[in-house]
Amino acid sequence: MNAPLRVAVTGAAGNIGYSLLWRIASGNAFGADQPVILSLLEITPALSKLEGVVMELMDSAFPLVKGIEMTDDPEKAFADCDAIFLVGSRPRSAGMDRADLVAANGPIFVGQGKAINKAKKSVKVITVGNPCNTNCLIANHYANEIPDTQFTAMTRLDQNRAYGQLAGKLGVAASDIENVFIWGNHADTMYPDCSIATVNGEKITDKLGEDYLHGDFMKTVATRGGAIIKARGASSAASAASAAIDHMRDWHLGTNGRIVSMGIVSKGEYGVPAGLVYSMPVTCENGEWKVVEGLEISEFCQGKIQQNIEALEGEKAAVADILG
Ligand code: NAD
Ligand code: LMR
Repeated sequence: MNAPLRVAVTGAAGNIGYSLLWRIASGNAFGADQPVILSLLEITPALSKLEGVVMELMDSAFPLVKGIEMTDDPEKAFADCDAIFLVGSRPRSAGMDRADLVAANGPIFVGQGKAINKAKKSVKVITVGNPCNTNCLIANHYANEIPDTQFTAMTRLDQNRAYGQLAGKLGVAASDIENVFIWGNHADTMYPDCSIATVNGEKITDKLGEDYLHGDFMKTVATRGGAIIKARGASSAASAASAAIDHMRDWHLGTNGRIVSMGIVSKGEYGVPAGLVYSMPVTCENGEWKVVEGLEISEFCQGKIQQNIEALEGEKAAVADILG
C-alpha cells in the first residue's frame, strides 16, 4: 500500500462537501489503492455540523481512510497537504451572477492562499468556490511559495454538462464522446468548444451545425448553474462534487491523451494574458497538466476567447484592493 495522501477539503460541512468527501474516501479521486488522511476545514460556527459529518464518515468505515481531522484554522488544515479542494464559500442565489460573489468570497482566499504555503510544494489545488477563476487567482497570488502550476479552477462541471447535452442530442452515451472542452471563465461567457470533438470517432461538427453548437447548446451549458438554482432552490452540489473528483483524478492519475478542461494560471497561451486563471484544453500525465497548444482557432472562438479575457480582467480589477 502507498503512504497516505493528506487531502484537505474546505467548507467540508456544506452541500458539496457532503457528496465530495464520500467520493474521495471511496478512492475515486486518487485511486482504489491509495489511502488518504482527510483534513477538513470549516468556519468556527459550522464546526458542530462538521462533527456530525465526521461521525458519518467514521460510520462508513472506509478502508482507505487512515485519519480524519477537523479544524477552523487554515494553516493546520493545509499543513503538509498533497491535495486541497477549496470549496468553502458562499453559493449565489437566484438572480445573482457568480461574479457578484467576489466581494463576499474573495477575502476568504487571501488567508487561505497564505496558509497554502504550509502545504507540500507539489500540492494540487482545485478551486471550486465561486467565482472560482478569480478566487483561484487570489489564492495563487498569496501562496507565493507554491508554484503557479499547482493552482487550478474547476470548469470540469461545464465540460461534463456539455457532454451530457451532446449525449442527449446525439442519442449516445457520454463515453462515446471525446475532446469537448471549455475556454475561459466559469461564467455565462464560457465557450464549450466542439471543434475537435468526436462521437464514436466521427467529428461532432459533421453531425451538428453551428446554429445548434453556437446557439442552444452553448447557452444551455453556460447558464446551467442558474437553471439548477432556479429548479432546485439551491446550487448544484452532487454534480459539482463529481466534477471536482473528475478534475483531481485526471490530474493525479492522467488522462491517457484525452483532452479535458482546467482553469490554469495562463503563461500567455492562445493570447490569454499571463497570470489570469483561464480554462484551457489540457492533457495530464505523471501528475502534471499540459496545455494543448497549436489548435486552430476560428474567428468565432477567438471572439469568445477575447470576451472571457475581458470578463476575467474585469473580475481581477474588482479585486485589485484584495490583491494589494
Ligand atoms: P454551502 O453553503 O452548502 O457550503 C459552503 C460551506 O463553506 C459552508 O459549510 C460554510 O460554513 C463553509 N465556509 C464558508 N466560509 C468558509 C471559510 N472561510 N473557510 C472554510 N469554510 C467556509 O455551499 P456549496 O453548495 O457547498 O457551494 C460551495 C461553493 O462552490 C459556492 O461558492 C458555490 O457557488 C461553488 N460552486 C462552484 C461550482 C463550479 O463549477 N466551480 C459548482 C457548484 C458550486
Ligand atoms: C454551477 O455552475 O452550478 C455553480 O457554479 C453554481 C452557480 O452559481 O451556478
